[in-house]
Amino acid sequence: MSTTPTPTPISRPVEHSRTVERLVRGQPTSDGDGVKLTRVLTQPLQKRLDPFLMLDAFGSDAASDYIGGFPSHPHRGFETVTIMLEGRMRHQDSVGNVGLLEPGSVQWMTAGRGIIHSEMPEQEEGRMAGFQLWVNLAAKDKMTAPAYRDVPPSGVPQVTLASGVTVRVIAGSTLGVEGAVSRPTTEPLVLDITLPAGTSFDAALPAGHNAFAYAYGGGVVDIAGTRVDGERMAILANDPTADGVRFAVDGDAATPGRVLLVAGAPLNEPIAQYGPFVMNTVEQIREAVEDFQRGKLAA
Ligand code: CO
Repeated sequence: MSTTPTPTPISRPVEHSRTVERLVRGQPTSDGDGVKLTRVLTQPLQKRLDPFLMLDAFGSDAASDYIGGFPSHPHRGFETVTIMLEGRMRHQDSVGNVGLLEPGSVQWMTAGRGIIHSEMPEQEEGRMAGFQLWVNLAAKDKMTAPAYRDVPPSGVPQVTLASGVTVRVIAGSTLGVEGAVSRPTTEPLVLDITLPAGTSFDAALPAGHNAFAYAYGGGVVDIAGTRVDGERMAILANDPTADGVRFAVDGDAATPGRVLLVAGAPLNEPIAQYGPFVMNTVEQIREAVEDFQRGKLAA
């Protein structure tokens, strides 16, 4: 057995942190077959948070809130990222992929020109919790071939700093660690960060990226001097002089701070959305609906 030294994480303090531009409380809604969730990133924020189109947070101990799952439905023109925290869901799609989403796993699906999939719970009781993030594709990539990647919990690099802060690097790279997924063009950075009481963490961010942080799990997080309660999204100001963002949790906090940090390079292209189809023009949306109705979307 050969041993490979674990690379020492390169932790660099942020010299000038982005500040919180706005706090957003999500909208309770339901999707699929009656799955209760909170839509954190809603359509009116798509332009501001380009290339991100949607963030749903789901979390419930009541089977009636999730048991219906997400039966067979289509997508075209973007990517879906499912981040499972608790519970199990079974994925099946028109490309022939079958995958089990388990706690700590991530599913990255590129719908491209079209995919039809279902995401159904594999449990009848217990807690189900996680996120679904939608990342737009550039106009030139919207009709690309569909693709699917299932990342097991062990495939998501996790960095633990001396302070006890842990960072799961879902996409992009941070602290010199390459994440589970790397995507061109939008160059998304997706980090799942846990800060024990009395710790802080500086995350480097490319200056041109749009970015937001979602505090979850009930803990309060300080973001560059702004108190962010649990279950709130902080839109981070775009500041060409900022090199990242600073998170901190009070020493007497009863609950660790948990943050989903998401950043990406904006596409600056027109967005036309009709439900599960996100294209650039109304004509392309009409095409998507017709292709779906004729059974040609995922053919
Ligand atoms: Co879907």
